[in-house]
Amino acid sequence: MSFSAVASSPPPPGLAPSLLIERPEHARAVEVLVDRAFGPGRFAKSSERLREGNHKLDDCSFVALHEGRVIGSVRLWPVTVGGQPVAFLGPLAVDADERKHGLGQALVEAACEAAAKAGWRAVLLVGDAPYFGRVGFSAAPAARAVMPGPADQRRVLVKALVEGGDQGLVGPIRIR
Ligand SMILES: CC(C)(COP(=O)(O)OP(=O)(O)OC[C@H]1O[C@@H](n2cnc3c(N)ncnc32)[C@H](O)[C@@H]1OP(=O)(O)O)[C@@H](O)C(=O)NCCC(=O)NCCS
Repeated sequence: MSFSAVASSPPPPGLAPSLLIERPEHARAVEVLVDRAFGPGRFAKSSERLREGNHKLDDCSFVALHEGRVIGSVRLWPVTVGGQPVAFLGPLAVDADERKHGLGQALVEAACEAAAKAGWRAVLLVGDAPYFGRVGFSAAPAARAVMPGPADQRRVLVKALVEGGDQGLVGPIRIR
């Protein structure tokens, strides 16, 4: 399936899903979607420590809308790694009935593109390498970026947005 280009307003009903910058009126639907995707344990994750008390990057967080319904979401957050500012991605969620059409990948790509335009050097996340490897994330240099709490460090992945943007990311990951 192809998605209409990042839009500033919702598409008319009946069209393919559209990606647009998340707005305050989407927040409730995003919470419901993410709760369904991750379950009640989501607040115990170390990633959550980088989100609570932080403010998402409004210009880099997207929803997928279909006929007015939020069916996908990705958010980015400002953090530092050993003092270097990078964007932290998550949660990424797609409605269970809408998966395997490329929407998750399209959301990650839209968020990374927006982060590059906004001047971020790299995007960091905790996730599955087989999935995020498809959109340019890799584990190797991120292994020395340390999550604030229990985490499988092999799942800390990074994508450079500028030449060498994934280098030198060594130290604790903290809210910026
Ligand atoms: C992960 C998720 C966002 C993918 O959304 P999606 O719209 O289905 O993604 P895409 O269509 O771009 O990609 C689907 C492909 O990725 C694969 N995939 C999905 N999750 C995967 C994972 N954790 N590891 C490896 N592959 C995975 C699917 O099997 C599918 O493979 P195929 O193309 O060979 O059929 C969605 O499954 C979801 O919301 N899951 C629950 C929340 C979650 O795990 N979020 C990611 C961690 S932050």
